[in-house]
Amino acid sequence: MADPRIFVTRQLSIDARTVVGPGVEVLVHAGPDAPPRGLLLDLARGAQALVTMPTDLVDAALLDALPDLRVVANHAVGLDNIDLQAARERQIWVTHTPGVLTDATAELTFALLLALARRLREGERMVREGRFSGWTPTLLLGHGLRGKTLGILGYGRIGQAVAHLASAFGMEILYTNSRSIRWGPEEPGPEVGLDTLLERSDVVTIHCALTPATRGLLGAEALARMKRGALLVNTARGAVVDEGALVHALEQGHLGGAALDVYEREPEVHPGLLGRDNVVLLPHLGSATEETRRRMAELALGDAARVLRGQTPLHPAVVGRLSEVQA
Ligand code: DGY
Repeated sequence: MADPRIFVTRQLSIDARTVVGPGVEVLVHAGPDAPPRGLLLDLARGAQALVTMPTDLVDAALLDALPDLRVVANHAVGLDNIDLQAARERQIWVTHTPGVLTDATAELTFALLLALARRLREGERMVREGRFSGWTPTLLLGHGLRGKTLGILGYGRIGQAVAHLASAFGMEILYTNSRSIRWGPEEPGPEVGLDTLLERSDVVTIHCALTPATRGLLGAEALARMKRGALLVNTARGAVVDEGALVHALEQGHLGGAALDVYEREPEVHPGLLGRDNVVLLPHLGSATEETRRRMAELALGDAARVLRGQTPLHPAVVGRLSEVQA
C-alpha cells in the first residue's frame, strides 16, 4: 500500500521531509505563490493531508474535490481562511499553530507602534533622500508612550504579550476580550467594553480573530469614537477594519495615524493609505522570523503526520476522525 501523502501548498522555510519522517510522503508546491485552485486540486489529488497558508481558501468545494482528505493543517494561528463548519460536517481535522508566533507578533506590533509614534518612516526617508540638514529643536516631533493608554482589542495570547511589552514602556492598559465584545456600561478595571476602549485609548491595537462578529468591527462609527489624534495598529486581520472608513478618518485628521501589517483585501492596499506620511505599512510580517516560521512549519507538518499515523493532533481546531487512515 502506498504511503499516505501530505500536500504542502507553498515552499516552507524548512525542508518538510525532515520533519515528517518515514512512512509519509510529502509533496511541496514549488512556487512561492499560491497555486491557483485548479492547479492545487491537481497537485493535491490523492493527498490525505493538506498544509495550507492563511492565503489559501479552504471551503466546502475544495474539501469535496479532495475526498481522500483527513486533515487540513493550517500554517497559521488564524483560521479565517477555512470553513470550519464544512470541515466539521465532513469529519476532517483542522489544526493550527497557536503559541509559537505570539512573541514575534507582539514584537512587530511594538515595532509598528514605535515607527508610527516616533515618525521613523519620515525620518528614514529624509536621511536617505539627502534632506537631513542637521539637528533642530522642532524636527519631526513625535509622541512618547509612557503614561499613554493602550487599548488592546482582543486579549488572547498575542494581546496579553502586547500588554506585557506595553507595561515595560510605562503605558496604561485597557483591553476588551473579542469573544465577548461588549458595548455599553461596564465595571471599572482594565477589561472594558469596546466603546470605552475606543474613547479612552491613545493607541488602539487589534489582536482579535477575524470572525463574522469582528469583520468590519472598526467601521466609521467605531473609528469616530476614538480620541482625536489617536493611533491605530493592526497586526491581526485586515478585515476587522473598514479601510475606506479608516482612510476617511485619517483624511479628516480625526486619527493621528495608522500602522498596518494586514489589509482588508490583502494583498491589495487601499490607495488612500499609500501616500500618507502618518501611515506605516508592512506586508503581513507579524510571524516572519526564522525561529517562528520554523516552529509553525514543524507544528503544521507534525500534526498532519500525526493524523496520517492514526494519532490525535496536538493543536486541533476541528476534531475529525482517525480510524480510516493508518500508516
Ligand atoms: C497567522 O498565523 O494567523 C498569521 O497571520 C500568519 O503570520
